[in-house]
Amino acid sequence: MRVFMIKSITGFSKLSKSKKIDWIVDTYFSNAEEAKGILKQYWNTNNNLQQLHDEFIENTITNYYLPLGVAPNFLINDTLYTIPMAIEESSVVAAASKAAKFWLERGGFKTEVISTTKIGQVHFIYKGDFDKLNKFFNQVKSRLIDDTEAITKNMTKRGGGILEIELRNKTSDIDNYYQLHTSFETLDAMGANFINSCLEQFAKTFKQEALSFDLFSEEEKQIEIVMSILSNYVPDCLVRAEVSCNVEDLSENATISGEAFANKFIQAVQIAEVEPYRAVTHNKGIMNGIDAVVLATGNDFRAVEAGVHAYASRHGKYSSLTHAKVENGIFTFWMEIPLALGTVGGLTGLHPLVKLALELLHKPSAKELMQIVAVAGLAQNFAALRSLTTTGIQEGHMKMHLMNILNQFEANNTEKEILTKYFKKNTVTHNAVIEALNKLRVSNEN
Ligand code: MEV
Repeated sequence: MRVFMIKSITGFSKLSKSKKIDWIVDTYFSNAEEAKGILKQYWNTNNNLQQLHDEFIENTITNYYLPLGVAPNFLINDTLYTIPMAIEESSVVAAASKAAKFWLERGGFKTEVISTTKIGQVHFIYKGDFDKLNKFFNQVKSRLIDDTEAITKNMTKRGGGILEIELRNKTSDIDNYYQLHTSFETLDAMGANFINSCLEQFAKTFKQEALSFDLFSEEEKQIEIVMSILSNYVPDCLVRAEVSCNVEDLSENATISGEAFANKFIQAVQIAEVEPYRAVTHNKGIMNGIDAVVLATGNDFRAVEAGVHAYASRHGKYSSLTHAKVENGIFTFWMEIPLALGTVGGLTGLHPLVKLALELLHKPSAKELMQIVAVAGLAQNFAALRSLTTTGIQEGHMKMHLMNILNQFEANNTEKEILTKYFKKNTVTHNAVIEALNKLRVSNEN
């Protein structure tokens, strides 16, 4: 085991940015100046823009770049989109673009928002008689809503707000445990702050009002709030995306008929429906598309990930999010997923690239963004299954990976050009690329 003699630090967050960097590079790096140089290289030269990024989080020392790519030619409900994607994985954008083009020639994607309800809960402990708690809840319910008026006023004016508050008895799971299970409509906002503020106000009112509820004993009056927080499980904030075409139109060339392609494709989906090991990878591929658009549009991809995977296990076994069938000669491939997204609030009005991404998408409402994101996921899964069931994934992957390897070994533009051409006809492996690069360099020296 290696032992590092590093002292902890107090008051780090109060140091200036440059002092923070000094401490980090002096403490952790053998070449402090070089490390500092790398961190500073990623600072934006526009001070205001840099400050904006500095202030998104605490203890910012630099910016972390991800490529922002675009996948054009997405026809969604007869409107054409170019979809922005922020992602580091080679071949995701290329795969999305390929799937977009494929379906552009076959009628495009059809989407529909099924529901937009979000959930938040106040978790609390009450030691006493349930009937009395229920009476108290029914009496205090309207007060709970009234006390959040300052928070909900604008949202209610626009047609959203608190939909329903339910008292849930969870004592069969944990002694004395109850919830105020609440549903919300947050319109174009992702709604996390709105929901959490409402819940914290409910908790305050609920606890306070209990103290003067006559039917309660002294012990019953002492309601303990455990926590108040939104749920990232949003099975009622659901969107559907679908593609379909005649089976024979699936064929692009003579190597595989439309019918053979459809059969193999459906088998691949069925495997992901029944086999969790495959389902996780299958769904990961879907999330390649989803996360990239969620990130590019300034939304919370961790929330989306958590909610989507929970939804994939809603029947008690982790399963595929997508489904496919052939009926009456028509191939249909579809997905329904929960997506809590916002196009106002959060980063959406702050981050210049997020604003740009949203404008690129015709400034969508949250509902429209749900549909675009779902399409990116479905397209990604289509592209992955198409490669997996035909040529295999590595052919395309390694071609994209070639550039990463060449960059790693600091190939210049001429070397890249020559080797890209060479690897059009030869198999890309890490070793093969290094060998070819070395050979080229040696032959150039001679
Ligand atoms: C790689 O990031 C994603 C895939 O593994 C998805 C899949 O296997 O379906 C290609």
